[in-house]
Amino acid sequence: MNKLKILILDDSERIVFELKTFFQDLDYMVFESFIPSQAFEILDKNETDIMILDINLPEMNGLEVLKRVKSRFPDIEVIMITGHGDMEKVIEAMRAGVSDFFNKPFRLVDIQNAIERTRKFVELNQKLKTVQKHYELVSKELRNRVEHQIVGESNAVKSLMAMMQKAAEADNTPVLITGESGTGKELVARGIHYLSRRSSHYFYAANCSAIPSELFESELFGHEKGAFTGATEEKTGWFEAAHKGTLFLDEIGDMPLLLQSKLLRVLEDKKIRRVGSNREIPVDVRILSATNRNMEKHIQESQFRQDLYYRLNAFFIHIPPLRDRTEDIPLLLKYYANFYSGSLNKRIEKIAPEVVEKLKKHPFSGNVRELKNMTEMAVILCDDGVLKEKHFTALKRGGDQVPQCSNSACPYYNISFENKFDLLQVEQYLICEALRRTGYNKTKTSELLNMSWSSLDRRMKKYGLRYL
Ligand SMILES: Nc1ncnc2c1ncn2[C@@H]1O[C@H](COP(=O)(O)OP(=O)(O)OP(=O)(O)O)[C@@H](O)[C@H]1O
Ligand SMILES: [Mg+2]
Repeated sequence: MNKLKILILDDSERIVFELKTFFQDLDYMVFESFIPSQAFEILDKNETDIMILDINLPEMNGLEVLKRVKSRFPDIEVIMITGHGDMEKVIEAMRAGVSDFFNKPFRLVDIQNAIERTRKFVELNQKLKTVQKHYELVSKELRNRVEHQIVGESNAVKSLMAMMQKAAEADNTPVLITGESGTGKELVARGIHYLSRRSSHYFYAANCSAIPSELFESELFGHEKGAFTGATEEKTGWFEAAHKGTLFLDEIGDMPLLLQSKLLRVLEDKKIRRVGSNREIPVDVRILSATNRNMEKHIQESQFRQDLYYRLNAFFIHIPPLRDRTEDIPLLLKYYANFYSGSLNKRIEKIAPEVVEKLKKHPFSGNVRELKNMTEMAVILCDDGVLKEKHFTALKRGGDQVPQCSNSACPYYNISFENKFDLLQVEQYLICEALRRTGYNKTKTSELLNMSWSSLDRRMKKYGLRYL
């Protein structure tokens, strides 16, 4: 356990001095205060394990301080001292959760014994919390692990696995994973984490396109209580959460420029600073990042720092699209048919051979995710245990599940402005049209519409244009 941190609050300078020197000699970290407001200031800024609290104080009495401490910092253990052997106050303090009680004059050694007893309690509490947190993470990650396997037998998948193994061995080197949407970038990132020495620690996946830019720094590095309006509690950021583990920064191209320089500094110094704090916190985190953007173009357009790109790209993995490794289709189809027959409790005994043939000719612009979703739907539709072509409805249309503008007579064609028209419908129409013209390629569509990939993605979700 770290050094035990003790806060003393007593208006007698002599007592504070005596306690402070005594406990400092025993190698505790000691904070001193003489009035409650000073003590609360210290509590707001410093993690504290134990508080030694006098009853008679200026500003408010010790019982009031005790109640406030217990409601704001329930994990702090409080030991009270008083000059009066007032039974009523003792009982009230005990009810309010005080751990121990002493009358003045007290022997330092008695307080030391009380601290030692409390210390055991603090340690147990900390261990319990760590175990609980670990348990939650482990069970969540176990689920992810079981549900996420890399399936495939093509040379592309074989060399992908070999690259993952290499990336896992170099467990401090940043890795950039690229590939079209749905190719399995996150799956590969998780795989690298579990193959690495960091596997018993946390894998933290964060999506850079989902964070408003004003909140980004606090998400990444955390913040102190009161650091900005709305920061009512202190918050741990992604880096601290992933300490000793892996931080996966998805859609890294969408990280705001200002944060890009801060991230670069952290990668170099291996220290972070929470928003609103000057304290540097050392972090040991492996960074994996992913994008389906054309990063060179993004850099040319001054939207991404070249130095950061080179740092993140120290090791590079590209996942080819599914249409370039059609040998994987039969295995993936079998895997997901099996998976969904289990989870949907449907009997699937066979897959008709023509299904595989048709699927191999399908463009799969949504890659494995598209195949997975298609298979789920087919399993739901299938009633006789044999998956047939008719169950793959997207195949029947001869293409992807086309996002359709729900309004066929789109007002964009006929703008008179006499009648009100719904601007959102025009936007929806344009998105559908651009998707159609680019063969449902989201990256190309976003370029055509001059918007970021993530804005397009957000809008498609907003209009219920289920991509695939
Ligand atoms: N080789 C594979 N074997 C089995 N499942 C796969 C494979 N590749 C991808 N998947 C599945 O496809 C889905 C999409 O994968 P993932 O989320 O990793 O893709 P992505 O590249 O991160 O996509 P996006 O760019 O849209 O974020 C997931 O459900 C994943 O489990
Ligand atoms: Mg992803």
